[in-house]
Amino acid sequence: MSGEAVARPMLILKDVHKFYGANEVLKGISLDVKEGELVTFVGPSGCGKTTLLRLIGGFTEISAGDIILDGKRINDLPPNLRDTRICFQNYALVPHMTVAENIGYGLRINGWPKGKIRARVNDLLEMVELQAFGDRMIDRLSGGQQQRVAFARAISLEPKVLLLDEPLSNLDANLRLIMREEIRKLQRRLNITTVFVTHDQFEAMAISDRLVVMRDGLIEQVGSPIEIYERPANRFIASFVGYVNFIDGRISLIDEATRNTFVETEYGRFEIALEQADIAAGDEVLIVVRPEAVTLSLDVGIKRPNVVCGTLKSYMYAGSLAKCTVEIGTMKMIIDQYNPSEAHHFKQAEQVAVEIPHRVHLLKKKKQA
Ligand SMILES: Nc1ncnc2c1ncn2[C@@H]1O[C@H](COP(=O)(O)OP(=O)(O)OP(=O)(O)O)[C@@H](O)[C@H]1O
Ligand SMILES: [Mg+2]
Repeated sequence: MSGEAVARPMLILKDVHKFYGANEVLKGISLDVKEGELVTFVGPSGCGKTTLLRLIGGFTEISAGDIILDGKRINDLPPNLRDTRICFQNYALVPHMTVAENIGYGLRINGWPKGKIRARVNDLLEMVELQAFGDRMIDRLSGGQQQRVAFARAISLEPKVLLLDEPLSNLDANLRLIMREEIRKLQRRLNITTVFVTHDQFEAMAISDRLVVMRDGLIEQVGSPIEIYERPANRFIASFVGYVNFIDGRISLIDEATRNTFVETEYGRFEIALEQADIAAGDEVLIVVRPEAVTLSLDVGIKRPNVVCGTLKSYMYAGSLAKCTVEIGTMKMIIDQYNPSEAHHFKQAEQVAVEIPHRVHLLKKKKQA
């Protein structure tokens, strides 16, 4: 499916609540997931991601609200009667079975005839590129191979919704990258509606159509990876997804024609192209400055808009980028310098010029009650 096609909602969560005793761990989750979409729930440990997947899969009872799958309310259906499949973090493969037996397990339980199972399993083995491994015992596979078996098993019955709970967390860094691309490729090819859970923000951004940022049982923001990264709704989201430098400021002037805006800060005035409609003159704001958005130079003598001077506190070369810490007044700003081998290697205590881009995101500070 192309991303542009208008897809119907395949999974609808309506004001979903979950209590464990008196402890409310989901506090009203509402979301439509479109057919063929890959939506990822991210959030800190304990915010309720796994609980939500278990509710959708039917492994945990919902306390209030509705789960609608392809137009049908499935709240009260047991897991095996829901058109969902869950792939757990530890894969939950059966150790004394072969790869083929593991993949065909659900088909057998569902009474498929032997010949049909064999054909389907062969197709699935090919799909996850494990053709030569059908007879291998599960415990003689690498982590990445087991991950593919778990994925093949989960999609064997072509569920309407695939639920993946941190499926890559047992893999080493390189394999994680490879497997997340493979999952995404297969998910797109099969056009399978997928709810993915991870606490790895970068994995979430890389793999998803939309991200859902959760905190403490609630949804904080839903949006495309670019929306979440570039236009976070609040400070928590901004700092949860990547690193952020915040500069406190106050809007002194908005030119309504150009939306050019002056933000006064203790480091001087910044000129910002204002994109948000909800910010007005007089508002207290935070300027959201990503480490990669800043330009660092030695042009300290030249006065230019949006440039402040500071002292280089540390310079850590890390191959594709160098992490720089610059002290500007009382603030320590983290700045990424890309392709450092081609650039100036800044030295400790060097005076540097820090340029904040004209187009940055602003967060309106909540008024104190
Ligand atoms: N069976 C249970 N009984 C009581 N409390 C539970 C149960 N399962 C989870 N919880 C609590 O519900 C909250 C949410 O847990 P959940 O496992 O959904 O978090 P998570 O977002 O998946 O975290 P992580 O990133 O660490 O996997 C936690 O406070 C947890 O302690
Ligand atoms: Mg979890």
